[in-house]
Amino acid sequence: MKDLLVMALIAAAGAGAAGLLGWPAVRWLRRRSVALSLFAVAVVTVLAMAAGTLAVAQAMFLSGHDLGVVIAVLCMAAVVSLATAAVLGRQVVAGSRALARAARTVGSDSGFTAPTGPLGSELAELSAELAATSARLAQSREREQALESSRRELIAWISHDLRTPLAGLRAMAEALEDGVAPEPARYHARIRTEVDRLTGMVDDLFELSRIQAGALTLSLSRVSVYDLVGDAIAGAYPLARERGVRLSGEQVAPEPVEVDGREITRVLGNLLINAIRSTPTDGVVAVAARRERGEVVLSVTDGCGGIPEQDLARVFETGWRGGTARTPRAARHAAGRPPGAAVQHHGDTGAGLGLAIVRGIVEAHAGRASVRNVRGGCCFEIALPAAGPFSTV
Ligand SMILES: Nc1ncnc2c1ncn2[C@@H]1O[C@H](COP(=O)(O)OP(=O)(O)OP(=O)(O)O)[C@@H](O)[C@H]1O
Ligand SMILES: [Mg+2]
Repeated sequence: MKDLLVMALIAAAGAGAAGLLGWPAVRWLRRRSVALSLFAVAVVTVLAMAAGTLAVAQAMFLSGHDLGVVIAVLCMAAVVSLATAAVLGRQVVAGSRALARAARTVGSDSGFTAPTGPLGSELAELSAELAATSARLAQSREREQALESSRRELIAWISHDLRTPLAGLRAMAEALEDGVAPEPARYHARIRTEVDRLTGMVDDLFELSRIQAGALTLSLSRVSVYDLVGDAIAGAYPLARERGVRLSGEQVAPEPVEVDGREITRVLGNLLINAIRSTPTDGVVAVAARRERGEVVLSVTDGCGGIPEQDLARVFETGWRGGTARTPRAARHAAGRPPGAAVQHHGDTGAGLGLAIVRGIVEAHAGRASVRNVRGGCCFEIALPAAGPFSTV
């Protein structure tokens, strides 16, 4: 038993000495090829085994013949171990090179092309991760392109929308300057109206750019939707009267919400103006508010006869407007009229920004904006998170 212990200690000392020599080599190889490291591990193992065995053989005073046998056995084992390590190393290197080649296809137009050969489980995991990253990259590039093209389209539309009234304004100003305007007072009124409309459009563009840049800062306060609806109805009343449309706000529950009052009044104003514009004379535009599952839902229902189903999903898009998309109503009005009268009736033409602003403001309040058709018209709804009840003081 004691002999065995002594032999074990001698073998451990021999193997340990070889191991100690191999340790710095393995550390030095940390930044080198994996194949080289695997080979080094095999070499250290073989050397440790050989050193231990030879130390024991010395201690046991083996005969020359027996020592030769031991060495021969060691050599065979060493050759097989080193060959196996070399083959394994080559496999690992081949897998990692194939993955490196595949990684170059991440973000390419054709997408990630995974290596075809077999990969170790860690490399296969990495390959799957690269495929997922490449898919995410492609998606975000698509989103970016869609955004870019809609931005370009919007700029084209807006410049078109600005050009026509500006041409009208110029013509009217020239007519006034040359003293050929038949009714200067009417020209002045038209110029004023048109400047107001253009100011509104620029204001909408500014608001939209703030929303899209995430620069909309809300100053939240607790208000009753009753007051918000009251303000919005008061603002839309002159247009409703002009159009012969009745505004009804009878079904508005005095629910509290925590919102930026100015912004939500703007939202309701946009919805009301759209509803009034779309409702025929003698029609009714009804505003309602109810509490529903932790939300306060405000709705504006009009008598427009319904929005075509295929358009329902598009009404909130920036720059989208109904009918024959972006039919230059202003240009139609201009055609066949003297240049001085090339301005349409105010409030008839929009830039298609109102509902994009509605959705942007509502979403900034963690709410939702939606539209659906109802009998004889359509109903725009905005759902805002409900605030706790008003405290009674
Ligand atoms: N209440 C409504 N009833 C029927 N159609 C509507 C209603 N509100 C909006 N729409 C349709 O959706 C389009 C987009 O509305 P949006 O408010 O975004 O733009 P706009 O009213 O045309 O212009 P802007 O609001 O910038 O002056 C409108 O052109 C109209 O065709
Ligand atoms: Mg509008």
